[in-house]
Amino acid sequence: MAEKKVLGISFGRKMSNCDIMVKQALMKCEEEGCEVAFLRADDLNISNCTGCIACVVGMMNGKGRGYCVRHDDFDILDECVMQADAVILACPTYETSATGRFKTICDRIGPSHDITFRQAAYEEGKAKGKDESQLPDARSFKKRTGALISVGGAMTENWIALTLPMMYEFTFPLAIDVIDTVEYWGAMAHESVVGYPEMMERMKKVGQHIVDSLNAETEEERIKWRGDEEGCCPICHTRLLQVSHDKKSVDCVVCGSHGTFRIDEEGRLQVDYTEKELDRSRLRWGGKLEHSTEIKTQAQPAGTIKNLKELKAPYAAFARPPFAADTSSYGNIKK
Ligand SMILES: Cc1cc2nc3c(=O)[nH]c(=O)nc-3n(C[C@H](O)[C@H](O)[C@H](O)COP(=O)(O)O)c2cc1C
Repeated sequence: MAEKKVLGISFGRKMSNCDIMVKQALMKCEEEGCEVAFLRADDLNISNCTGCIACVVGMMNGKGRGYCVRHDDFDILDECVMQADAVILACPTYETSATGRFKTICDRIGPSHDITFRQAAYEEGKAKGKDESQLPDARSFKKRTGALISVGGAMTENWIALTLPMMYEFTFPLAIDVIDTVEYWGAMAHESVVGYPEMMERMKKVGQHIVDSLNAETEEERIKWRGDEEGCCPICHTRLLQVSHDKKSVDCVVCGSHGTFRIDEEGRLQVDYTEKELDRSRLRWGGKLEHSTEIKTQAQPAGTIKNLKELKAPYAAFARPPFAADTSSYGNIKK
């Protein structure tokens, strides 16, 4: 079997917690025979998605391959992801969620990397006899596994609550199967994670879990959940639920699984999901296809509102400058 490739990406400070945690997991993968690569997000110059949607439109009209019109260091990250059989990501918590750079990279990944879009564009192009070089990258369809690690300084867990859920934004477009997650909060209580042996051991375990998944002989074994807790959602194993407006049901915020809840004999919240609803999860093909189909069929093309320019005119004409600096206060504007 060819050597499996594992890509680690740290979104933290140089040689701080995220860097070290990802490196520890990668070291384990390397020790077990994998080829590994390490990227620091802050070393990459990646600009924000402008929302032009040329990437997706190009795939829908067959003129594009699902790429951004901009070329920057995202291309380096993209090439590494395409080669990887597994990814290990670690992201700090900033303001209770993932960092701005993490979000920037996720916006650049999806929806252009959504495999239902890519697959349809690939098959339609093939049917027309197009060359591979004109089609979405065939490596997009490779099965991949992932592990996600969130880090926060605060001593209270809910201060990092949104980070891990947000990290699935990196993995779901390409359907990377997350098989392990770790939430490390209270990081401020250790000068560096290297002085916290239990967490360093857990990182070796992350590496081992990735290796076990890569060496699995069956698909069931490859995607087997290896995290410490089952969580509330049977698909993504997170614990972040959105209560419906009538307060009778819940949606998994991360993957969209819909269920009803009850309190069991031991006072625990239990969420019941039907297989039909689970198939609508955005981590499954059915849920992904439902969303790409709604984009293809419901999104209105330009020209449907005949007097659009006229309707927009008052808003285009409405411009107001920022407030003038209040020089009697002590803000940060240079006087
Ligand atoms: C702008 C900013 C906001 C932060 N907000 C939070 C927060 O909401 N919750 C938390 O637990 N830690 C917060 N932290 C602390 C970082 O998560 C913590 O320092 C973490 O270790 C950074 O990862 P690194 O060590 O890999 O760079 C914040 C740090 C910064 C710089």
